[in-house]
Amino acid sequence: MTRLALGVLVSGSGTNLQAILDAVSDGRVDADVRVVVSNKPGVRALARAEAAGVPALCLSHRDYADREAFDAALVEVLRSHGVDWVVLAGFMRVLTRTFLDAFPLRVLNIHPALLPAFPGVHAQAQALAHGVKVTGCTVHLVDHGVDTGPIIAQRAVAVLPSDDVASLTERILAQEHDLLVRVLAAVAAGELVITSDESTGRLRAEAGVR
Ligand code: GRF
Repeated sequence: MTRLALGVLVSGSGTNLQAILDAVSDGRVDADVRVVVSNKPGVRALARAEAAGVPALCLSHRDYADREAFDAALVEVLRSHGVDWVVLAGFMRVLTRTFLDAFPLRVLNIHPALLPAFPGVHAQAQALAHGVKVTGCTVHLVDHGVDTGPIIAQRAVAVLPSDDVASLTERILAQEHDLLVRVLAAVAAGELVITSDESTGRLRAEAGVR
């Protein structure tokens, strides 16, 4: 089986990227990170990639006329590095069909809530505002909606009475790192199975990761 050729898209601190880089380097995930692309200059994630010896570059969405033009440029960069699977690791841009059609069912996202609860931004603040007692994180395939694609794996995290956004974010992040790496290991091992639900027509994803 060919090694997974990953492209990782980032916008910020890159702790999920770091978890991937560490797991690839110690053999837990049978993959190469071919390139890391940020839509924001100077972010910590780019420094993490460089420290790991992985090609890293910034493509600022501000330099493109519209989302499609930006997405086309992203596709070109990823293809030029031989990427076949893409991980959105804290990438804060919504992708268009231009991008998703180039990597059909091969784009993964990590989201800091138990989807379909609390999609979009500020998921941890939404969880606190709703007073939920349990939240968590989700790894899913990206489709044309915002955080709506087939769910691969989820991890629950208890919300404590003392929690604020920072403390809850930190505990969820620790679970994100572990869950994302386990899903990538399963994908690299060819264990991801995608089926279509007979009654709803919705796609379902299973990777044997809980
Ligand atoms: C994570 O909480 C991720 O779920 C969300 O953005 C955050 C990125 O954190 N999409 P990091 O850049 O990986 O540290």
